[in-house]
Amino acid sequence: MANLEEELEGRVVHIRSVSAKMCFYDVLIDDNASLRRTALMKSWVCGTDTLELARKGREEARIHVGDKVRFEGRKEEGGVFEVVNFAVVASFRKHNPGKTFTSIPPSPAPDQEEKKSEKQCKFWISTGRCPRSGQCPYLHQDGPAKAAKMEFVREKFNRREALQMAKEDHDLKSRHRRASVFASWLKEEFPDRLDDESTAVVDVAGGKGELAIELKVRLRSRSKVVVVDPRATAEVVRMSKWQRKMVRKMREEEEGAEAAALMPGRIGKMFGADVMRELGKVSLVVGLHPDEATEALVDVAVSASVPFAVVPCCVFARSFPGRRMRGDSDQEEEPRTYEEFCRYLGQKAEGVREARLGFRGRDKVLYWTPKGL
Ligand SMILES: C[S@@+](CC[C@H](N)C(=O)[O-])C[C@H]1O[C@@H](n2cnc3c(N)ncnc32)[C@H](O)[C@@H]1O
Repeated sequence: MANLEEELEGRVVHIRSVSAKMCFYDVLIDDNASLRRTALMKSWVCGTDTLELARKGREEARIHVGDKVRFEGRKEEGGVFEVVNFAVVASFRKHNPGKTFTSIPPSPAPDQEEKKSEKQCKFWISTGRCPRSGQCPYLHQDGPAKAAKMEFVREKFNRREALQMAKEDHDLKSRHRRASVFASWLKEEFPDRLDDESTAVVDVAGGKGELAIELKVRLRSRSKVVVVDPRATAEVVRMSKWQRKMVRKMREEEEGAEAAALMPGRIGKMFGADVMRELGKVSLVVGLHPDEATEALVDVAVSASVPFAVVPCCVFARSFPGRRMRGDSDQEEEPRTYEEFCRYLGQKAEGVREARLGFRGRDKVLYWTPKGL
């Protein structure tokens, strides 16, 4: 470990794993609470193997709370110690058989410490109402701070919902296969709409064009498939190796066909009614995790009486504050969570159906065909 600027040795009293690539270790030097330091392990600095060893290595080599550890590395600006290597010098368990070390979390910064009477009411923040009304000892504040906190709580709820959904079923397919799974489902559900050379299927917010390539190249859809996304530039829609292989194979098999007819088209714009007009005859509007374009996709398709199939992901409640839906007791409510957002979209036309596609993450598809088609 030559050329390292410093060492930090002490007892690890708290561990915060932020992601697979980053972990914080709070250390007390000489077991002195006023000599508390933070060591940070980043996989791209200390190497993935070192971080893996610290987190999941052999029992005697990995770091547990209570262990005395020597970290080698350097001090960063802001006082955090950036770790390059480490060694457990004394294992708590080994020296204290049968005992458990209780983690010591950092105390809140002085400006974060709030007296009870200065704390915000949790009910008020998350729902805008408080069941304790006049009896509540906590603050009921309105204004931008409340709005920001409410948004934070909503996003937390959304993230939790997403995690829960991911845990629900281990038989689900990898989320990396979502374009392929959705394309196959579309082919089954809308076979005619994908096989009409005189019409276009619009892939709203298609990003890198994975779904469009699946539809055109793997499933040989005869309809034109056009990606509409401001990111739909040549650099972004660069195909991966396996996609290029699929295209080569298709070209060999489809000898004589015009190259342009075999590949998806792209329009580098935000999706809206104007783009729909530009496209001419559209047979189907689809979108896989189309972010901010989700609602526009449904609105434009419904008003043009064109079938749609959309797999929503994020709610973006803050960007669209005016949304209202019919709640359980027929009262107007703002859709805040993913489930509520799906319900809200489903209320936009009569006969919107839903199905699960069976990949990890948000896999619910909402789809609709106008009456009489
Ligand atoms: C999460 S990515 C999904 C990309 C792709 N559908 C997929 O599943 O890999 C969301 C995409 O939405 C696009 N987007 C956001 N707002 C849009 C809008 N109003 N019109 C078209 N595309 C939009 C972004 O540029 C981004 O590529």
